[in-house]
Amino acid sequence: MHLIRDVQNLAILLGRKSDNVGFECHDLFKSGKELRVKDELEVIELSKGSGAKDLYVKKIRNGSVIDHISAGHALDVLKILGIDGGEGHIVSVAMNVSSKAASKKDIVKVENRELKPGEVDKIALIAPSATINIIRDYEVAEKTRVKLPESIRGIVRCANPACVSNAGEPVEPKFLVERQDPLRLRCFYCVRIMEKQDVLKQF
Ligand SMILES: Nc1ncnc2c1ncn2[C@@H]1O[C@H](COP(=O)(O)OP(=O)(O)OP(=O)(O)O)[C@@H](O)[C@H]1O
Ligand SMILES: [Mg+2]
Ligand SMILES: [Zn+2]
Repeated sequence: MHLIRDVQNLAILLGRKSDNVGFECHDLFKSGKELRVKDELEVIELSKGSGAKDLYVKKIRNGSVIDHISAGHALDVLKILGIDGGEGHIVSVAMNVSSKAASKKDIVKVENRELKPGEVDKIALIAPSATINIIRDYEVAEKTRVKLPESIRGIVRCANPACVSNAGEPVEPKFLVERQDPLRLRCFYCVRIMEKQDVLKQF
């Protein structure tokens, strides 16, 4: 595992050592030879105009890029996906990189992995602005924005032990989404309100 840090940004790169490169670009890509190198790299931070301070990582051939994750939640996304690096595929994680003016985001790039609907629903709860890009043969083949429905079923349990959904009855937990960001869920059956931290504990 390589760990790269600069003052505001943190990027973690997992995977086979020989496969993964992460470095800050110092005007490398001018000659023909260096252009070929750039073809294999993807800028991880897309803030316009940062130029020589961009961070580049190796492109993935097939897999998923989860972009526009609420800053600070990249590791929660990895947890939802059950990825700890032991699979041996390339995983690039960037935290607190510049997004649009004055805002920050996290990004997760995973090789050889597409997301299941249940995983996308969980990501929507903690990162309602995330986009899921499916990469095929190095290109973005599909892009979807995660979406929280008005009510969610089955993904989280009610934190109230006395709730009917926790009574061993065949009652599926159900919540109304009162607010997306910051998250606020209201149990359909009891008075309990669940916020992001309550939900994260269950993932
Ligand atoms: N082959 C690849 N390997 C790794 N990351 C990639 C690859 N192709 C695209 N990406 C990343 O996927 C994300 C989406 O790529 P895209 O080219 O659609 O960027 P964009 O136009 O900025 O998208 P958006 O409007 O969603 O921000 C970006 O973070 C980009 O760096
Ligand atoms: Mg972008
Ligand atoms: Zn309840």
